[in-house]
Amino acid sequence: MLTARFPDGFMWGGATAANQIEGAYDCGGKGLSIQDVMPRGIVEPPVESPTEDNLKLTAIDFYHRYAEDIALFAEMGFKVFRFSIAWSRIYPRGDEEAPNEEGLAFYARVLDELEKHGIEPLVTISHYETPLHLARTLDGWISREMIRHYERYCETLFRRFGDRVKYWLTFNEINSVLHEPFLSGGIPVPKDQLSQQDLYQAVHHELVASARVTRLARELMPDAQIGCMIIALPVYPLTPDPGDVTAAMHTAHDSYAFGDIHCRGEYPGYLLRRFRENGIQLEITEQDRLDLTHTVDFVSLSYYMSVCETADPEKKTAGEGNILGGVPNPTLQASEWGWQVDPKGLRVILNDYWDRWQKPLFIVENGLGARDEVVVIDGRRTVVDDYRIAYLDDHLLQVREAVADGVELLGYTSWGCIDLVSASTAQMSKRYGFIHVDRHDDGTGTLERTRKKSFDWYRRVIESNGEVLGASL
Ligand code: BG6
Repeated sequence: MLTARFPDGFMWGGATAANQIEGAYDCGGKGLSIQDVMPRGIVEPPVESPTEDNLKLTAIDFYHRYAEDIALFAEMGFKVFRFSIAWSRIYPRGDEEAPNEEGLAFYARVLDELEKHGIEPLVTISHYETPLHLARTLDGWISREMIRHYERYCETLFRRFGDRVKYWLTFNEINSVLHEPFLSGGIPVPKDQLSQQDLYQAVHHELVASARVTRLARELMPDAQIGCMIIALPVYPLTPDPGDVTAAMHTAHDSYAFGDIHCRGEYPGYLLRRFRENGIQLEITEQDRLDLTHTVDFVSLSYYMSVCETADPEKKTAGEGNILGGVPNPTLQASEWGWQVDPKGLRVILNDYWDRWQKPLFIVENGLGARDEVVVIDGRRTVVDDYRIAYLDDHLLQVREAVADGVELLGYTSWGCIDLVSASTAQMSKRYGFIHVDRHDDGTGTLERTRKKSFDWYRRVIESNGEVLGASL
């Protein structure tokens, strides 16, 4: 007998980000974002100005093809679609007083299309897309000025779209700023030259900004649900040695801190201790403390992998291709990009977060980046991506277990529901989608959309509210 079920009304869908799908980087009055000067993702340092080899400049041209793409999402039965609004489409430099109407009109059209298909929008306000001007002139979130510019941007979105968008995420993977300051915080200083003082001051500004717009959202949109968004990374001790267990606890705190502050409204003791012991003295005003008490309605997360931690410096090797670092787990296999696959870790972290914060959770990213090959079967193009189906099936079975454990979960949006440009490597060949897009790492391709085998599988998962999971492919 099946004892674990997804709740009625569970929000199934897919997730994307503007810079990875839209293209049209200079159309409709859009200004440059940090992504326009990151042709190699985080693999190489940013360049001075946009270069033709940057796949994100045209990406998969969602800007012009959104209607076709949303129709395909609807065909799979999506209840929700997560996308980000490109800040530099609305405020091209980031510091203007008035928004760019053409940018707003584009997202209004996207919302029209979603409404037509009965798909709920889930909007990420800032997904690794700081306007380049703010990054270069203010040093990104190191500057307190950023709060004002972000608030103005949010107020514009809330006033224009507040009656059409209920679910909002303030910052994508906010905990990544500790590891990728330019990508995540628009801070144009190489990480090894950045002081902990500046880094944590930037973190503080983002946290205050997140809390301030949460309060603003409640004033302007009483029915809205505001979430934070965290990279969920279970940290296992490499061995049962209590030293490793303690080391794992410290590494886990790096991420917990962001959820603790978003959910409890104040800095946790372990972080204050870290500040004290490392001579970090943040500028935290009385108003900041009051602002931080405006906590989120729900916690959203991305989940791709777990890591290990050890106290033994000789065993401390860095995992490949993993934003947050960590020691690889000797019991797990990795994807071609070195991301270790751990479905059970998802159940573990969902329980963990729920127990810790008692806020509804939303999985807004999960998926497998893999190379795909288009084949023709019975005269139709497709991709036989059994590996992707197996990955998602394994993870969703663990999600179902977590729900049975009592975790309150709002929904699941698979990452890169349509092939898009990778954030870390800026490749097209690292594909996540149910829909193949004919575009290649060298920039060639027709952009034709093709349903993969996983397209039909996901349609059946949604249609059955997850009852078909675990069945043979
Ligand atoms: C998350 C990001 O880190 O992981 C996404 O929020 C990103 O933007 C996703 O695309 C997968 O990472 P990658 O590097 O494989 O694109």
